[in-house]
Amino acid sequence: MPGIYDEPELYEAACAYRDVPGEVSALLRWSGKHGHAAAAPGRSVLELAAGPAEHSRELARRGLDATTLDLSPAMCARARELAAADGIGLTVVQADMRDFSIPGKFDLAITMLNSLCHLLTLDDLLDHLTCLARHVAPGGLYIVELAHPADFLAAERRTSSEWSSEVDGGTVSVRWGGGSDEIDPITQITREHVRVTYSKRGGGVRTVTDVVPNRFWTATELTAAIRLAGGFAIVACYGDFEADSPVDAPDAWRMILVLRRDGLAADPAPPSAVDDGPGAG
Ligand SMILES: C[S@@+](CC[C@H](N)C(=O)[O-])C[C@H]1O[C@@H](n2cnc3c(N)ncnc32)[C@H](O)[C@@H]1O
Repeated sequence: MPGIYDEPELYEAACAYRDVPGEVSALLRWSGKHGHAAAAPGRSVLELAAGPAEHSRELARRGLDATTLDLSPAMCARARELAAADGIGLTVVQADMRDFSIPGKFDLAITMLNSLCHLLTLDDLLDHLTCLARHVAPGGLYIVELAHPADFLAAERRTSSEWSSEVDGGTVSVRWGGGSDEIDPITQITREHVRVTYSKRGGGVRTVTDVVPNRFWTATELTAAIRLAGGFAIVACYGDFEADSPVDAPDAWRMILVLRRDGLAADPAPPSAVDDGPGAG
């Protein structure tokens, strides 16, 4: 049975609610602010667990030299196809984000849309961070977008697990977790039930169902893992893409960590709030 990551077009439709150009503008803004212009045109970016590579393709349009990595052959094929259709240069690598080898060092690395949830154990996360550190240039950044912890720990979630949107050529209805899906209190893994229904204008309905394991990483676990792995320091943590508001703002709905690769003599001190976990950006 094909899962949701074997069906890139349905996945894209499900995620079409995002403002990708706006998110990419935030990535470039933060790169300029924290990363010594790491994202200037001509510099290089590596997107991990990139799926159809929405963000990398937009970064490539803005002049960056973009490489994407994903485990799924279908997602890699789709990323190549979309880049070719747009006439964009994009290097696509099919690999596991816990263990890969790509020549050269990148100025910027990104992992979007909570894709670190696919690292299910501490060893997975450490392997990923250690491997990635070998691929990021000194002073370069790793920007990681995660779900906001309030989605798991607060009385009320900050994001919805069900939504519908109009997409090119039709309507998509999505359920991604939520409902009766319960987090395992020991492993912090939720077996999220996913259902995506794409109704094409003029007829034709396709539905994909899947069960996708999602590991919830707390802010303090991430901080500890980053210190344990070595190679990166947390320099900022934001709660959304638009306003640069901190992760502890009442209306924060994402947890976006900005990590900087060690190795620059002139590294500024990280914000004091990161001492006990990601804090204000
Ligand atoms: C939620 S999707 C996110 C895709 C993309 N980042 C985005 O913003 O649309 C997660 C992606 O992670 C990929 N993935 C899962 N485990 C992986 C691993 N160990 N290494 C690399 N990619 C992985 C899946 O194939 C899928 O494309």
